[in-house]
Amino acid sequence: MGKNRRKLVQVFTVALCFVSAVLSTTDPGDLNILNEFKKGLQNPELLKWPSGDNDPCGSNWPHVFCSANRVTQIQVANLGLKGTLPSNFNQLTMLYNLGFQRNQFSGALPSFSGLSQLQFAFLDYNQFDTIPFDFFDGLTSLQVLSLDSNPLNATTGWSIPDKLGDSVQLTNLSLMSCNLVGQIPDFLGTMSSLKGLMLSYNNLSGGIPATFSQSSVLQLLWLNDQSGSGLSGSIDVIASMLSLTQLWLHGNSFTGTIPTNIGSLSSLTDLKLNNNQLVGLIPESLSSLPLQSLSLSNNMLMGPIPVSNFSKSSYFPNSFCQSTPGAPCAPQVSALLDFLGDVNYPVKLVSSWTGNDPCQGSWLGAGCDSSSKVSVINLRSYNLNGTLSPSVAKLDSLTVINLGGNNLTGPIPSNWTELKFLKLLDVSGNDIDPPVPKFSSSVKVVLDGNSALNATSPAASPPLSNSSTSGSQPSPSSDRSPPSSSGSPNHQAKNSNSKTSKVVVIIVPVACFALLTLLILPLSVYYCKKKKRRNAPTSYVVHPRDPSDPENMVKIVVSNNTNGGLSTLTESSSQSRDSSRMGESHVIEVGNLIISVQVLRNVTKNFAPENELGRGGFGVVYKGELDDGTQIAVKRMEAGVISTKALDEFQSEIAVLSKVRHRHLVSLLGYSIEGNERLLVYEYMPQGALSKHLFHWKSLKLEPLSWKRRLNIALDVARGMEYLHGLAHQSFIHRDLKSSNILIGDDYRAKISDFGLVKFGPHGGEKSMATRLAGTFGYLAPEYAVTGKISTKTDVFSFGVVLMELLTGLTALDEDRPEETRYLAAWFWRIKSSKEKLMTAIDPALDVNEETFETISIIAELAGHCTAREPNQRPDMGHAVNVLAPLVEKWKPFKDDTEEYSGIDYNLPLTQMVQGWQEAEGKDYSYTNLDDSKGSIPSRPAGFADSFTSADGR
Ligand SMILES: *[C@@H]1O[C@H](CO)[C@@H](O)[C@H](O)[C@H]1NC(C)=O
Ligand SMILES: *[C@@H]1O[C@H](CO)[C@@H](O)[C@H](O)[C@H]1NC(C)=O
Ligand SMILES: *[C@@H]1O[C@H](CO)[C@@H](O)[C@H](O)[C@H]1NC(C)=O
Ligand SMILES: *[C@@H]1O[C@H](CO)[C@@H](O)[C@H](O)[C@H]1NC(C)=O
Ligand SMILES: *[C@@H]1O[C@H](CO)[C@@H](O)[C@H](O)[C@H]1NC(C)=O
Repeated sequence: MGKNRRKLVQVFTVALCFVSAVLSTTDPGDLNILNEFKKGLQNPELLKWPSGDNDPCGSNWPHVFCSANRVTQIQVANLGLKGTLPSNFNQLTMLYNLGFQRNQFSGALPSFSGLSQLQFAFLDYNQFDTIPFDFFDGLTSLQVLSLDSNPLNATTGWSIPDKLGDSVQLTNLSLMSCNLVGQIPDFLGTMSSLKGLMLSYNNLSGGIPATFSQSSVLQLLWLNDQSGSGLSGSIDVIASMLSLTQLWLHGNSFTGTIPTNIGSLSSLTDLKLNNNQLVGLIPESLSSLPLQSLSLSNNMLMGPIPVSNFSKSSYFPNSFCQSTPGAPCAPQVSALLDFLGDVNYPVKLVSSWTGNDPCQGSWLGAGCDSSSKVSVINLRSYNLNGTLSPSVAKLDSLTVINLGGNNLTGPIPSNWTELKFLKLLDVSGNDIDPPVPKFSSSVKVVLDGNSALNATSPAASPPLSNSSTSGSQPSPSSDRSPPSSSGSPNHQAKNSNSKTSKVVVIIVPVACFALLTLLILPLSVYYCKKKKRRNAPTSYVVHPRDPSDPENMVKIVVSNNTNGGLSTLTESSSQSRDSSRMGESHVIEVGNLIISVQVLRNVTKNFAPENELGRGGFGVVYKGELDDGTQIAVKRMEAGVISTKALDEFQSEIAVLSKVRHRHLVSLLGYSIEGNERLLVYEYMPQGALSKHLFHWKSLKLEPLSWKRRLNIALDVARGMEYLHGLAHQSFIHRDLKSSNILIGDDYRAKISDFGLVKFGPHGGEKSMATRLAGTFGYLAPEYAVTGKISTKTDVFSFGVVLMELLTGLTALDEDRPEETRYLAAWFWRIKSSKEKLMTAIDPALDVNEETFETISIIAELAGHCTAREPNQRPDMGHAVNVLAPLVEKWKPFKDDTEEYSGIDYNLPLTQMVQGWQEAEGKDYSYTNLDDSKGSIPSRPAGFADSFTSADGR
């Protein structure tokens, strides 16, 4: 019995010992760390840990969880704790879940090295300022780690150590806004469990590693908003990350296209690619994705916007051809974009080829003919790589394709032979592959300097031999071929030299002007000056406007009908201002220069009275002279007289002239709006107004215009008006066409000026619209004078009157003439059908013979037709062009040189012109900083004619 009791006591004691061990003995090491942790805090009371208790596991301390006397969790999220963590924190070796997020922990993050049980670690939103290099060593169980929003290693930044790669169970890694630098490590792409990778708001650079294409489980990838220049390179790799649901790449510098196979990301609901430098078209497959949110704004995406039903989407700004989803690009634009895609979207062209009309605005390297069809592609030496697109064959008005001196590969597409107006195809100095398709003999094909074509036997490439034969004939095409690269001393380069320097004469003033205005490289300005002196016409006739023009003629206001016209204008110009603000460049929409008033002050000698060219209703026109001697005309609206009407006209000129560009419409070179200053800068037309040459040639001691010149002028005006009416893709009505608004260049070719009264034409079905009556008596169509209704036919009437003036040398209206002949149009109608009377009415300054009389009769008939009483009986300007063109042809045995390849001379923006001029000079300056994508200027040549014209009488 005593023996039994002893035994019982023994058992009891053992049991007691056992129980007490289980209940009270927290691992002393863990206890020690917890105490140190508490000690490091400034506000430990928030933990509510019982003081004097040494058994966190046994007495269930708040926020601490244990298992077998070991601490496994500490959960103190959002308690407002302040302080540091003990450096030996990683001795809590059984820790598997740590919630330290959203406190104010600071100081060094202790190493977590060796925490092999740790699965979840939330350390985000604290103030930890350093992370040790071995932090990630041996975290073999880690599944989720978040260090977001900690100022870790702020001065040097830090990168993710490779040791994290051993955490093979990692599913979520969130390291946002914690000063990561360098590249995204490759191993992250190979982590087979990783579903969420958030690295936003760091300072990462480089590309998305190629290894990411292997990541078949990654769903959330946030790499957005890296500071500095951010992540770069192509985003092609994303197309194979098939599990992606959220892809945020915005706020970086990614380039290249959106991969066309992005449609295979069938789980993608949220795509943000905005604020990068992506180019190309939006892949159609994007529309098939289950996207709820899509952001593409602020890239350089082109082409149409696909139709989509994404609930949230942002597209603008970009370089789309249309702003409405689903609206297709114009066929010419589509073809050119295909071309661009096949040469891998060079940024320079991408930023220039915007909008839906290559002929409006100035598309670098693309030139248009007078009917707004692309007739020239000239991208010599543009560092293009890639291949030639068969779509170019759709640009059926092409006459010149010059792609020499690039790195193009692949063959010339066989359907390029279908380009029936093609005269020149220059692909010299590339890596073009055979076979060369067989072009007709009228095409000059230049193939030199393509090593793969060298080996081809002449028989297999007939064009090669063609080119050398046709090159020796004085055929128009060889004559007009653009300058060859200076590097290749081929036959053709020599042939074209003389032509080249002619081109230079034309382009240099424009180039000088731009260089000067943009304050670029003093060297270039110097060089430009030098060149200019050599080639520039030696003198200019300064007065563009006929001073004796009876412009005084009243402009009456019949009604105050306001209409859509003006508000449209105002809108469009405020848009322009917005876009200039965004780009921080001094350039509006289509490339018109905003010029500082100071510059214009300087070039006009502070608007000196001796530089005054004319004075009118709302301003004074001054002659300006640039440093290099180039003359310009500056129309200045004076502060005192700024009226709503004057401002409207000012805005109208800018709006119209920046929308329409045509060889026969005068160019606005720039404008200034500063404070009360309103200035317009025009090219200078040396020979002044047509009226001067028709009516005042004697007193001005000029030569009377020959019939041939008059015909040419009539055709030029008809073409300019035709463009304005319809081909500018928006109908414009001039409202004030008259001989004093037609300006003549040194070549006696004409341009229409004075767009202050231009109206956007009526939309859609409407045929005419009511406006305030403006314009000049004598040229006013009857229905306009009576009802104020305008249509394009109002302009046709005025054109008819101009034709009568060309025929008779009489002004449209002259109060001093007897009543019968006072109104030219009325009188002309009475006499035009009698050959005899017509003969006597013809301008005596004309030398009329049988042959001229024949064409004179045709013009007389056209003039009558154009001035028919009923607007609908008048022809449109296209008809006038069709009547005039053959007559001009007849008077010119050779096709007018300036007519056909105008694209080369007239439409080439700055860089290209400078390039052409360097080539001509055989110099090899590099103007890489002359970024023309930002600052292409209205590139009309002609010796900088003044065409202000509307100063008077307004
Ligand atoms: C952070 O900075 C500390 C001290 O400057 C340095 O020892 C440590 O290696 C850095 N961390 C990383 C991950 O580079
Ligand atoms: C080809 O041209 C594109 C566009 O200019 C450029 O981004 C790319 O780097 C070029 N490729 C090569 C291999 O030069
Ligand atoms: C073509 O590419 C090569 C190498 O990519 C380069 O060295 C050469 O300058 C390029 N040529 C032209 C004309 O761009
Ligand atoms: C030229 O070929 C391409 C593809 O080969 C085709 O899409 C295009 O319609 C062709 N163009 C013409 C004008 O034949
Ligand atoms: C190409 O032709 C030129 C002149 O005909 C010759 O000098 C050169 O060796 C040729 N090159 C090749 C690769 O055939």
